[in-house]
Parts: sequence; C-alpha cells; structure tokens
Amino acid sequence: EKGGFESFMDKEIHDQPQAVGDTLLGRTDVDGRLILDDLKIDEAVLRSVDKIVVIACGTAAYAGHVAKYAIEHWCRIPVEVELAHEFRYRDPVVNEKTLVVAITQSGETMDTLMAVRHAREQGAKVISIVNTNGSTIPRESDAVLYTHAGPEIAVASTKAFLSQITAAYVLGLYLAQLRGNKFPDEIALLMDELRDMPRKIQTVIERGEYVRSTARSMKDASSVLFLGRHVGFPVAMEGALKLKELAYIHAEGFAAGELKHGPIALIDEGQPVFVVVPSPRGRDSLHSKVVSNIQEIRARGARTLVIAEDGDDSVKAFADEIFWIPQVPTLMQPLLATVPLQIFAMALATAKGLDVDQPRNLAKSVTVE
Ligand code: M6R
Repeated sequence: EKGGFESFMDKEIHDQPQAVGDTLLGRTDVDGRLILDDLKIDEAVLRSVDKIVVIACGTAAYAGHVAKYAIEHWCRIPVEVELAHEFRYRDPVVNEKTLVVAITQSGETMDTLMAVRHAREQGAKVISIVNTNGSTIPRESDAVLYTHAGPEIAVASTKAFLSQITAAYVLGLYLAQLRGNKFPDEIALLMDELRDMPRKIQTVIERGEYVRSTARSMKDASSVLFLGRHVGFPVAMEGALKLKELAYIHAEGFAAGELKHGPIALIDEGQPVFVVVPSPRGRDSLHSKVVSNIQEIRARGARTLVIAEDGDDSVKAFADEIFWIPQVPTLMQPLLATVPLQIFAMALATAKGLDVDQPRNLAKSVTVE
C-alpha cells in the first residue's frame, strides 16, 4: 500500500535510501572481498571478457549509460549501451568474449528478452540485473544480480533506477576485483562510498519541498530541457523522460557539450533548462565546462534550474533556482541528482491534476515487442 503517501510514486521516491541499501546487502565476505553468489558464470570466462554490452529499454537503459562511465573507468573494458530493440534487429558483433548485461525492473520486457535470447545464440554470456524475483529474463540469463528494491508499482521508474545503478556498480567493482584492475583497498573505499549513499539520498528527499514548489509554479511550461555531462548526461535524459511520461510536457535531455552543435538554437527568453553540475572537486575540467554552459544559455534568456553540490558557489550567479545535493564523487552523483528531477516531474504532473501512478498510454511492463 501507499503507506500514507499521495501516490505510489511518492512512496517509491521515499523508498530509495532503503532500496539502494538493500541492493548492497550481503555483497562482501568476512575479508571484505566482493561476492556475487547469484553469479553462476565461470570466473575464467569473466576474466577473458573483452567487451560488455548493456541492453535495456527506457529508464533501465539510462542506468546502463551511467554504469558505462563507471565500469570503463574501473575495469578498462569497453562498454557499449544499446536499446534492446535496436540491438536485436541489427547484426551486432557479439561472441563468446562478450558479456551482455541486461537491465530490467520487471524482468518481463519483451524487447529486452528478445535481445537476451539473441545474444546467447551468438555465444555471449548474459548477466541480468533484475528487480522482480522469478521473472522471465533472469530465468533465461546465465546469471542474475537482483536489485532487491522491493515492488515498484508506479509506471514511472524511480527506486528501480537508483538500485540498477547501484547493482551495476557492484558488478563493475566485482569485475575490477576479479581482473585485478583495482587494489582491494580501493574497492573497499568505493563500496564505503556506495554504502554512504542511502543517507545522502535521504537528505535530498528531505529537501524536496523546494523542488515541489518550483514545479507547481511551472505547471504551464510547454517545454523543458535538461543538460548534463559525463554521468550527468544520462541523468538529464532520465529527467526528461520522467517529465514526458508524467506531465505530458515536451522534454529533451542533451549532453551539455552538444549545445553549440544545435540545441542552443532552442533557447529563447524564459525557456526552462535544468543543468546537472558535476562535483567541483572532481578531476579535469568537467565542472568548469558545465558552468560555462550555464552562462551560455543564461545569456540567451534561459531560465536555469541548477542541480549543484553543497558549497559550489560558482553556480550562484547564473542560476535562477538551485537544488542543492550533498557532496559526492562525480560517479556517485547520479544517485543524488536524479532525485530532484523525479520529484519535479511528479509535482508538476500533480499540479496539472494528472494521475502520476498511471500515466496515459503506458503500461508498467511492456510485454509486447
Ligand atoms: O521493466 P523494465 O525495466 O525492463 O522496463 C523498461 C522500461 O519500459 C521502463 O524503464 C520505462 O521506461 C519506465 N516507464 C520509465 O519510467
């Protein structure tokens, strides 16, 4: 049941700290080494993998996009992310050295199932990251990593997304451990960062009222854009998808670096644009690049809605609204930066009088191709 919340979606947003915590439960042995006991693929096979292909649809595919940044960085294995229905009906290069990771909340998405079958026919091993126990896709996979986020009822995916990212990160760290890409203490440190995320997600949820009131004031918006770089890019796309699904507003997520290659032409007076700002403490110039993107769109009249880390004063001069999130390394940021975007879409849809749990034309699990 809704547990006193207005909607299942609202409840599931609030479930997120617990969902991420549960995804992480029982993943280390007494010596602190990662174990994935529901992973039934020979370690030698996993050591010989030369490519990972993530297949998924919708929000689950965005979780895959986030995971690509982390897994490539940690494991130095090339990772491709592909929509399952596109993967299935072309002629993808997949063989015994390919590890396919299928991500799905329901475990029943037909597009993803068909892609899993196709990959296995080509000799690839398939690990699925699934929320629903006993569903079809895990049964047809070589191994499964359950997210343990609990049932997700609302059509719009929220807690499943955060737990999919978490599970994919655990898989990435497991591969890094197995293949010797990282020292045990580095892995332990990253696991500690992950274990600290539920507390920080809770903080973001507690700051939700400001997001809600901003959303209510924007219920007549006809288009909202979302920008991000690096892991902030799939977060931007996820924010846009939530708004389309729930509020029936035209929304698009862009890689911030792509702006000047076209999308900046969309910016005119009052155009709302969300920008996900990476940690200012991160390496390279990611942060300053995004801050200049905010300046560029602001100068052209955009209304800027900025998601930034606590203490990041550099965005203040160019932001119409700022949604603060706790400080975390950039790779962990999607687990926080997504939350205000979920709350925004939900609150705006509610302000328009729409049913947030059951948007028009959509089904919770898409069991036809
Ligand atoms: O059950 P799955 O994770 O396989 O579902 C995939 C998509 O259909 C799903 O994420 C969809 O995009 C959601 N409605 C997004 O909120």
